[in-house]
Amino acid sequence: MDNFYLQELIEETNARGGGMLLNFQDKPAVVVLSIDRYNILLNQMQNTSTLSFGETATLTRTRPVKNMVRQKVLVTGGAGYIGGHLVRELIKAGYEVVVLDNLSTGRKDNIDPKAVFIEGDLADVSLLKDIFASNNFEAVFHMAASLEVEESVKQPLAYLENNVANIIKLLGIMNESGVRKIIFSSSAAVYGEPEKVLISENSPLRPKNPYGSNKLLSERLIKYFCEYMGFKAVAFRYFNACGFDTEARIVPTHQSHLIYKVMQVAKGAQPVLEVFGNDYPTNDGTCIRDYVHVLDIVLPHILALQKMDEMEKFEIFNIGTGRGSSVAEVVNCASEVINRIIPMEVAPRRAGDPAELIADNSKLLNQLGYELKYSSLENMISTSWQVMKDV
Ligand SMILES: NC(=O)c1ccc[n+]([C@@H]2O[C@H](COP(=O)([O-])OP(=O)(O)OC[C@H]3O[C@@H](n4cnc5c(N)ncnc54)[C@H](O)[C@@H]3O)[C@@H](O)[C@H]2O)c1
Repeated sequence: MDNFYLQELIEETNARGGGMLLNFQDKPAVVVLSIDRYNILLNQMQNTSTLSFGETATLTRTRPVKNMVRQKVLVTGGAGYIGGHLVRELIKAGYEVVVLDNLSTGRKDNIDPKAVFIEGDLADVSLLKDIFASNNFEAVFHMAASLEVEESVKQPLAYLENNVANIIKLLGIMNESGVRKIIFSSSAAVYGEPEKVLISENSPLRPKNPYGSNKLLSERLIKYFCEYMGFKAVAFRYFNACGFDTEARIVPTHQSHLIYKVMQVAKGAQPVLEVFGNDYPTNDGTCIRDYVHVLDIVLPHILALQKMDEMEKFEIFNIGTGRGSSVAEVVNCASEVINRIIPMEVAPRRAGDPAELIADNSKLLNQLGYELKYSSLENMISTSWQVMKDV
């Protein structure tokens, strides 16, 4: 459908007082509806992820933007691995998206071409002011950060500047501009070494490295803006993000994650996988982590924005599956899915690696109402392989 025709349909729909802008097979399509039909479909949509509109269109996995006016959002770090997936899903759901990214780890190709991309740094206050002055944002998804744990130990000040000092600037400018909704990418690193295996949002917060401390400080700053400046916010504490939307053509941005390393060995780029310790108190002696598919990370962000008006002013949700996989289980599953032998070699334990980290995700499931759809280990490994075998 060409843009002119699309625009005409949108205008006609608006003139009739109701309607929905949909994606059909990833292309924009419009269904013109009476306001009554629109409300019935909205109700149905709360109970299902797929709706049929006679012979007109099928809507899958997207929900309409609240009103006909498309909401505009800012995604910092939208050229990154998780940000790139979020931007694509936001566009599918009907949002207008502006991305701010300095491409320090992210890649321009990771950004959906339908988003507006501004190359720049969060530390650039005048750029931030310009961006907020020239856009009417509904909310900000703040994903930009430095996130290598070992690097954070070596460069604690640089990490503090990028991850904490910059968020104060961002929140200040949001406040000045009257944009007071933020959805923040936090991390399970805020918990450090847990007392209990299953980690809930109320578990003790004892980060063990500068990166985890940065995320905790950022959460506290956001809470401060919620308490004293009328902000509403959600912080998501991700466990181990992995997997890909293979249609999104997004490539990995970090090489330290286990599944990345497994893929390197599977494709012959590395001879052997180093396993750090096989004498942990787990079934097979290797560490257990909660791996969660990147789409099961980004889709709750969109849901959170849609539900934010009904939520408390500051909410925190773990994003994990509630299920752990050991290093050996990941490797065995990868061998089966890829049908290749992945040689392993045991190396000494790394300092500060807890035996088991698993999310209690009941708040995500019951309170936010998100249902995990993509996070089987097989799917996370097979989508990673499809993307990484060629990059
Ligand atoms: N990947 C994980 O397993 C994981 C787990 C927990 C939390 N997180 C958090 O999720 C977010 C996204 O992580 P990711 O895995 O997509 O990492 P990523 O490195 O792919 O994405 C971060 C993006 O932020 C950009 N960026 C960094 N500093 C910037 C600055 N000063 N100005 C503008 N852009 C800047 C980078 O260029 C990159 O595109 C981060 O906040 C990270 O801490 C990630």
